[in-house]
Amino acid sequence: MDAAPGKFIIDATLGGGGHSEIFLKAGATVLGIDRDPEALAHARARLSEFGARFSTWEGNFSGLCEIPEIQQGRQADGLLLDLGVSSRQLDSAIRGFSFMREGPLDMRMGPSSPHTAAEVVNRWDEAEITRILFEFGEEPKARRIASAIVKQRAIKPFTTTLELATCVELAIGRHGRTHPATRAFQAIRMAVNEELESLARALSAVPSVLKPGGRLLVITFHSLEDRMVKRFLRHRAAPFIDDPVWPEPRPNPDYQFELLARKAITPTAEETTLNPRARSAKLRVARLLAPMP
Ligand SMILES: C[S@@+](CC[C@H](N)C(=O)[O-])C[C@H]1O[C@@H](n2cnc3c(N)ncnc32)[C@H](O)[C@@H]1O
Repeated sequence: MDAAPGKFIIDATLGGGGHSEIFLKAGATVLGIDRDPEALAHARARLSEFGARFSTWEGNFSGLCEIPEIQQGRQADGLLLDLGVSSRQLDSAIRGFSFMREGPLDMRMGPSSPHTAAEVVNRWDEAEITRILFEFGEEPKARRIASAIVKQRAIKPFTTTLELATCVELAIGRHGRTHPATRAFQAIRMAVNEELESLARALSAVPSVLKPGGRLLVITFHSLEDRMVKRFLRHRAAPFIDDPVWPEPRPNPDYQFELLARKAITPTAEETTLNPRARSAKLRVARLLAPMP
């Protein structure tokens, strides 16, 4: 990301403000977005020394085009999406993201999230719970877990993270070092926060938000998210599209980006040793092209 003085960068996943701090130290002006008011308050305090060069907007990044500055026609030199939850959110028991810490079954990133985890596990029907566990958690034992959840909630509705984690563990047992509820918690969190829908909406807004030449950086931690970003960029970075029924390839009306790295960039062994949560991270980088004449 070129974060030199005079550049305007949108950090659409402000979190603890680590990336924004790097951009601000390099001299850029940064707008930090988060749907979590606690994250915004923390980052504002942390980055107060940068004065007017740092501002914030509370909301879902799916609404990028609703940001007043964007509505007034301002476009960014760079846009960062560093998806998922922050360490602060994960480590805070009261937020209910962790299967290791006793807390309420919440998992909302912020007030804009449509339902709580308790609503998902206590009210959604078994087929829908199976679907999200399978799709978002890539959980092969989705059916068995959903059935156990539905049986357990008929006796007593779930209220805490550890009740759910224990139910999952009893349903599928413990194998290896990964906690058996890891995939289920990830799936429920993604459903609670409508994470894939938000990403799809944000990606389609990118061409209106960036200046020609502006860069998009997306860091994903989940194969479904990475696939969505990869497909979006591959299609929009192809000057021509083809179809077996056409006599020859045709110009791609969606051609808008240049890929700055053909493949996803993954962390080095050294980076994952320093930050084990980064082990499944993938970074994709692209540049918005000038509109065709
Ligand atoms: C992985 S953390 C970002 C960490 C950050 N890059 C840093 O350096 O500290 C992701 C943050 O993005 C926020 N977030 C995730 N999805 C969001 C969405 N759809 N809209 C707005 N904020 C979102 C989360 O609340 C969380 O604070």
